[in-house]
Amino acid sequence: MTTRPTLALITTGGTIAGAAASKTDTTGYVAGSLGAAALLAAVPELGDVAELQAEELFALDSKDMTPAHWLALAHRVRARLDDPAIAGVVVTHGTDTLEESAYFLDRVLAGDKPVVLTGAMRPATALSADGPMNLYEAVRVAADPASAGRGVLVAFAGTILPAASARKQRGELAAFAGDACGRIEAATTVRYFAPPVPRRPAVALPATLAELPRVDLLYVAAGSAPDLLDAAVGAGACGIVLVLPGNGSLPDYWEEAVVRTAAAGVAVVRASRCVGGTVSARSVDERLGTRPAGRLTPAAARIELMLELAAGAPQS
Ligand code: SIN
Repeated sequence: MTTRPTLALITTGGTIAGAAASKTDTTGYVAGSLGAAALLAAVPELGDVAELQAEELFALDSKDMTPAHWLALAHRVRARLDDPAIAGVVVTHGTDTLEESAYFLDRVLAGDKPVVLTGAMRPATALSADGPMNLYEAVRVAADPASAGRGVLVAFAGTILPAASARKQRGELAAFAGDACGRIEAATTVRYFAPPVPRRPAVALPATLAELPRVDLLYVAAGSAPDLLDAAVGAGACGIVLVLPGNGSLPDYWEEAVVRTAAAGVAVVRASRCVGGTVSARSVDERLGTRPAGRLTPAAARIELMLELAAGAPQS
């Protein structure tokens, strides 16, 4: 007889816990209406896969997640991972900002135990709600020994994505895309495409940290005014991520403001507006005092800069 692992389930709200007045209403619902017990009750088959210890941490529409919620979530996930009886953690989350929470958790949680995030595009009350299957698959992933040492994962619509590349790219059931590292076949078999790769060390945040430093994202479109930079810094931003066209190309008329901002000690990162875009180091960085986001999405580059500023040193 095989023993089932014990997993923690932490719910935070989202459409996966959303409820509408009618089964055919897939838009006019309230996200985060249902608690952990209701999510579990919808999938009795979970009991065949794992013993689940469930708790409701938040009941949020994930558009309302803040960095303070990330800190609280990381704190709670870490506490569950520290329990020797717990083999892994599944987090249910709204899809709108799931990738940000996943990236943050990935960078601050150490250890090899699986942490898997999932959500849904249809509320729990909908005909053919996708949440129950996504939850079932996420539990399958977290329960699978092959998921160890892969960092935080996103399991969604049959695909497994590392937190670093998961991005909500579509408003359909298969909402997330990125560099998939595996898939869940026939709902039950977890298959990875390659062995886990070594991870960067987790960022050690000060134990007493109550909030993350403010870092703003500024989307630069044709003709966007550079005084947005002054407004952000004036409002207290300690760092700025510019979301720029192509390979992080800064309009000429932004240069003076960027040089002034960087010279004042506010870190300025160049990220790309392109989905899957990469921003490489260029001589312009030396001239302007900026730095490139590399392969990071703008949202991930923002988190990376927040962590660097919070930890007081660049993260390797
Ligand atoms: C949310 O992000 O909380 C609402 C939307 C969703 O979960 O798909």
